[in-house]
Amino acid sequence: MIKVAPSILAADFSKLKQEIETVKEAEYLHLDVMDGHFVPNITIGPLVIDSIQNITNQMLDVHLMIENPDQYIPDFAEAGADIISVHAEACPHLHRTVQNIKKQGVKAAVALNPATPLAAIKHVLTELDMVLLMTVNPGFGGQSFISEVLPKIRQLKEMIDNHNLDIDIQVDGGVKPGTTAVDVIEAGANVLVAGSAIFGADDRSQVIAGLKVKNKV
Ligand code: DX5
Ligand code: ZN
Repeated sequence: MIKVAPSILAADFSKLKQEIETVKEAEYLHLDVMDGHFVPNITIGPLVIDSIQNITNQMLDVHLMIENPDQYIPDFAEAGADIISVHAEACPHLHRTVQNIKKQGVKAAVALNPATPLAAIKHVLTELDMVLLMTVNPGFGGQSFISEVLPKIRQLKEMIDNHNLDIDIQVDGGVKPGTTAVDVIEAGANVLVAGSAIFGADDRSQVIAGLKVKNKV
């Protein structure tokens, strides 16, 4: 089953509650946390996520693009995160960090930048609920999909299937219905993050449904 995770980065924050209501049929809500160090942008922290948990029943999928995530994992768990993704590039002791997430009773995921090979997560794969493959360089919404990541999605799918594991493959960046969404699904992804494609449209339900369609337009 394909699951959609609207990224609120592309939403109008002056009316965040109404914006979230327009995407309530999506399985997840993707929350991009940026610290101005790991990525050249600053967004939201636990305070905003804590408010969001009161207004939706969706799975809160928290994508940490921050240095030293271990310091903040308990705060994000307390704020209502259901899934926490940390970047392998920001975690010198990745196995320990993954255990820290699981200790909080939260689903654990590791994110990889386009340039980071799958070797970075080989030693923690069996511990993970999800792997997030970035299809843009993290930091901003509305960037173009990097199609060179497609073979990495295929390889990851193969790795997961070969080991009989039950791990979601999430993709994030430049995912649009009828084009790149079809490519990533075909490659093996089953959780699709989309920011500008969803919040840039008037009919958000139509885009959410469209992201799950496996034919090109
Ligand atoms: C980028 C973020 C993404 C971003 C995706 O660093 O991790 O979640 O919001 O936005 P679109 O779908 O517009 O590429
Ligand atoms: Zn993201």
